[in-house]
Amino acid sequence: MNPLNHVAIIMDGNGRWGLKNKNSRNAGHKEGLKTVEKIIKETLKQKIKHLTLYAFSTENWKRPKKEINYLFNLLENFLTRKIDQLHEQNIKLKIIGEKNFSKNLNSLLNSAEKKTARNSKIQLNLALNYGSKLELVSAIKQIKKKKEKINEK
Ligand code: FPP
Repeated sequence: MNPLNHVAIIMDGNGRWGLKNKNSRNAGHKEGLKTVEKIIKETLKQKIKHLTLYAFSTENWKRPKKEINYLFNLLENFLTRKIDQLHEQNIKLKIIGEKNFSKNLNSLLNSAEKKTARNSKIQLNLALNYGSKLELVSAIKQIKKKKEKINEK
């Protein structure tokens, strides 16, 4: 087992890379996804238990609609093509962030999570529609719940 237990990556710079090298931000996103695949492979090889990818923040909704559509198409396409492979590789997929996307994408994400829920080689956390505000609210709700449980005793 690798003493390095968790690697977390904030995906950044893909758009700039694409503009500089291929004259298109979306080409950078496509290339970024190839890098994600290499990172997953290396995480498995290195036996690192947790990989978190911060892929799309609540701030990212301010981007042009065309770019947002491209990103979510990439994501849908990736999951449709790769979920069986991720499952065979014993990878547990967990979405962090608020799942309020299209009905189609929500159900794709839910079924990918469900399918891989019992896997144990690595946990791949995919942060989508994440923001610090949501995390704080959820932490406070959990503290409140714990406190209520203690008071019940
Ligand atoms: C960072 O580059 C990349 C993003 C904000 C989007 C990444 C998301 C995807 C490729 C969708 C699919 C994701 C996975 C992991 C399956 P940037 O656009 O912030 O680049 P910039 O800093 O140059 O603007």
